[in-house]
Amino acid sequence: MPEVKMTVNGKPASGQIEGRTLLVDFLRENLGLTGTHVGCDTSQCGACVVHVEGRAVKACTMFAAEAEGMEVKTIEAMAEPDGTLHPIQAAFQDHHGLQCGFCTPGMVMSAAALLKDNPTPTEAEVRDYLEGNLCRCTGYHNIVKAILAASGQDVSKIAAE
Ligand code: FES
Ligand code: FES
Repeated sequence: MPEVKMTVNGKPASGQIEGRTLLVDFLRENLGLTGTHVGCDTSQCGACVVHVEGRAVKACTMFAAEAEGMEVKTIEAMAEPDGTLHPIQAAFQDHHGLQCGFCTPGMVMSAAALLKDNPTPTEAEVRDYLEGNLCRCTGYHNIVKAILAASGQDVSKIAAE
């Protein structure tokens, strides 16, 4: 089997894989990074979103071999090494942006990519950006609120749900 090498969460990562191995399976099964979830087999749910070369990518839509030599970042690298949550994670916690948490890693990774490109999005822009991330639990209201809060905007007038 061919070997694939990439940088994952700032460290070199490699493995012998079949050509058809998806990036999400390489992350979860070869590297044990199970924070990246698999919620569908149709590339719809967004639970598998990671950053590849700084851009949000559904890791189930990409072969691991396609990430050869690239920088990949997963949810495991969002918090500080001492466990301090990333501001987006903290906002999800503060604004009840999760219930079961299954969609949350993908939501956080997508939100981080959004805020990198658009540091103060409108509510409509957040909702539009999250079109590829599905949540079965929350109704999205508090997820959107959390992302607006993480962008530094005043969400005190947005009702809790
Ligand atoms: S597991 Fe990748 S989009 Fe659902
Ligand atoms: S919090 Fe359960 S799927 Fe989103």
